Amino acid sequence: QMDIFENQQICELSPDFYGVFYEEINHAGDGGLYAELVRNRNFMDARLPEHTAWYQGRAVTENGHVEPWPMDDPLPGWRLHVTGHAKGEMQGTTQSPRNERVPNQLKLTASQTDCGEVTVYNTGYWGMTVHPGTYRLTVIARGTISSVRAFVETPYGETAAEAQVSGIGESFSKIETTLTVSRRASGCRLGLTAGCDGVLMLDFVSLFPKDTFWARENGMKPHIAQMIADLSPSFFRFPGGCIVEGINLSNAFSFADTLGPVEDRPGKYNLWGYRRTDGIGYHEYLTFCEDIGAKAMYVVNCGMSCQARQAEYGTKEQVESFLQEAIHAIEYAIGDPNTSVWAARRAEAGHPEPFPLAYVEIGNENWGDEYLARYGLFIDTLKQRFPSLVYIINDYGAQRSDVHPEYDLIDEHFYVTPERFLVMTDRYDRYPRNGKGVYVGEYAANQEAGRGNMAAACAEAAFLIHMEENGDVVKMASYAPLLCHVNDRKWPVNLICFADDHVFGIPSYHVQKLFSNNRPQTMLKTSFSVDSFTGEAQIRANAGVAKDGTLIIKIANFSREETEICVNVPDGYAPAGLYAVFAEMPETENSVEEPQRVSVCTCSASASFLMKPYGVYVLTCVRGTAEK
Ligand code: AHR
Repeated sequence: QMDIFENQQICELSPDFYGVFYEEINHAGDGGLYAELVRNRNFMDARLPEHTAWYQGRAVTENGHVEPWPMDDPLPGWRLHVTGHAKGEMQGTTQSPRNERVPNQLKLTASQTDCGEVTVYNTGYWGMTVHPGTYRLTVIARGTISSVRAFVETPYGETAAEAQVSGIGESFSKIETTLTVSRRASGCRLGLTAGCDGVLMLDFVSLFPKDTFWARENGMKPHIAQMIADLSPSFFRFPGGCIVEGINLSNAFSFADTLGPVEDRPGKYNLWGYRRTDGIGYHEYLTFCEDIGAKAMYVVNCGMSCQARQAEYGTKEQVESFLQEAIHAIEYAIGDPNTSVWAARRAEAGHPEPFPLAYVEIGNENWGDEYLARYGLFIDTLKQRFPSLVYIINDYGAQRSDVHPEYDLIDEHFYVTPERFLVMTDRYDRYPRNGKGVYVGEYAANQEAGRGNMAAACAEAAFLIHMEENGDVVKMASYAPLLCHVNDRKWPVNLICFADDHVFGIPSYHVQKLFSNNRPQTMLKTSFSVDSFTGEAQIRANAGVAKDGTLIIKIANFSREETEICVNVPDGYAPAGLYAVFAEMPETENSVEEPQRVSVCTCSASASFLMKPYGVYVLTCVRGTAEK
């Protein structure tokens, strides 16, 4: 039996408690959330990061997957196909580039095109999926081949859409045309067939759907974006994660490189084993925050690369330049266009109003004296310059008793087993109440949890219940990582997975969605008594009152047994809704084939009910006739 003490409030829960952590890992963005269909559109994918001897020697990724080293293929994503007696050649080159920062091009040579065809194909990210509608094809090229036939071809060799790209001349020009698709097809590729003999220098090729989330021109795929929006996140953390730090400082995230026309963005070799386009750049991240109604949390590099790999500690000058970069990024987001050149760039990009940047984290998973010295410099400067922002420190840096850096929130990360989360459900009861808050920036039961199963989701629910009850300490939390293309799983467990146009949430996703959409404002004292039959049950539960007066009770039954629960609803309240996430087995997972094996079920509202093994429940009660 669970008792709720309506008049005994234990803490307030931050309205920003539930948010999301986004990082370009597992092709989260490129080939995932980002709507671009062409892979390696600027031909830069084979470029390796500088000075990474250590990384080059390492062919095996975190999850044991053997990484094909991209240098083996000078033009990843692109293939040449020649028919009949035509002759063709395809080469990667940096000869006479349009933009020195994005110098790579594809050089196509074609001859005897009256006796056959010379075509370059782009295979997209594990095949392209197209839907009825229009697509914008952008080609930047020069050469003596003045026209190409562009077409989308299905795996069965049918043409799903086609258009002529004409007007290619001696100097680079940008040509845009529309391809119209009349039916859905997956596993497609884009072909560009030479219209005559000659040479074609391709600098940039993009195929972009007009149908994007919020109809943004350089936007996101609606079906994946909607999954994120459905979590109702109060904040959106970006760009990571380890990619903030980089394998070394030369490939750490740099916001300025991600602004402006997409064809001028060089992208960067990603710490997660592929080069990212930065098509989702700083401006797009901030726009997306607005589109999903979330505050932005930007994580800045403080002048050091990933310490878990081969740390590079920036010199004094480098640290100063990272600090300047952080200042510029913040000005871009919230500065005044009349006084800041960076804010003026935001206005030029069509957004004169400030973006909802509210949180800045200094460093990601950094530690030691090197971190603390850099952190000190950053916090002193940034806090003075932008006092309205909330500043977050990495927990590894702040847990020392001899130093007392200034911060608002401390970021703690937990990647553990489901059982460990259960053990941790007293962690914040024992935490110092010193006026500082905790942000649990990354957490997941991702060990001994398959690819994200019901037991993991239940354990995280138990931990969330505990964190909510300690809302005076834990101010915010975000599960990590958020997204994963099933063909490039770099991290064992990820909240939302996708392939082609299929998308599904793992069981943890449904718990996150259920809990985030049922947020209490004030937590109440509860007590629990367990009878002799269910004495071994591992139940975690809490109760709170939402802004609109709804009483919200959350329960996680981390037990192999069905367990009966009786909630002693306070007088004057009546059960209004009962929602559950459960599965037939603790090991049950969702998949592309069975995306809804575990999801949120609506049950008939009652204060007494039988909980499934590893079931997670939310009972809502409203003022009315009490049913006991
Ligand atoms: O979420 C995946 C990685 O886990 C993040 O990039 C990093 O911060 C943590 O180690």
